[in-house]
Amino acid sequence: MKNVVERAVILAGEGPLRFEEALPSSSFSYPAHVSQPQARTSARGFLTAKEFERSERNNLVAAMETSGWRLAGADGAAAQLGMTVSKLRSRLKALNIKKPEPASLYMRLGASRGIETFARDLFGRAIGHPQLGRFWKGRSTYGVMREEQLLVAYLSSAAGGPAEYAGRDMKKAHHDLRITASDWEAFNAILNETLVALRVPETERREVAAFTESLKLDIVVED
Ligand code: HEM
Repeated sequence: MKNVVERAVILAGEGPLRFEEALPSSSFSYPAHVSQPQARTSARGFLTAKEFERSERNNLVAAMETSGWRLAGADGAAAQLGMTVSKLRSRLKALNIKKPEPASLYMRLGASRGIETFARDLFGRAIGHPQLGRFWKGRSTYGVMREEQLLVAYLSSAAGGPAEYAGRDMKKAHHDLRITASDWEAFNAILNETLVALRVPETERREVAAFTESLKLDIVVED
């Protein structure tokens, strides 16, 4: 773990921490490429127009982030995507993709890669947890991956990122699960473990914890 953290710090320089590049692939519950939303079709074998658009959106955001939100030039997103600058500009406009605020929690957590790493780590801990694991028992791999994707989109958009969340609201998504106060405590413990393991700084840790706590009334239904 120490090596991973050291690598993340080295890779980050003065920018946000880049956990994903620092983590060996064995740290993930399944290979990183499996969870790339743009690389997957739905269970029905094809994407609807809306899903296709979301997939395009994720792809453009990834390219924009990789190129530091520069459109033009050899390292710019347009060249990397194999598009003209004007075509890219018009797709960004059509999909309403905007550069996130540098001070947003999204950027401070390492943008899409940081949030994906965080969500995956947290989700892996939840599924494997002796008390919380029951909520995912018997679910299909596809269902679990879809949920992870929704969690990434939810966290990204809540933190001020350009992702579009297309899932249910927190009340609807969790109501039938009958999540108890004790489950919530267990969840908070793994949330904190994740934040510490990924060496998220204190300020951001507090912000994530406060945001999560604001969802409690929507998620917990039983004492
Ligand atoms: C004790 C805590 C929690 C447990 C046990 C839990 C469990 C689950 C389960 C089992 C699902 C799948 C529901 C279904 O497919 O019907 C789900 C969905 C989801 N959860 Fe949680 N969750 C917890 C807390 C949270 C928190 C704090 C967040 C946000 C930060 C969150 C975000 C989501 C999202 C975005 C979905 C997908 C919604 C959708 O399917 O439309 N969950 N959760």
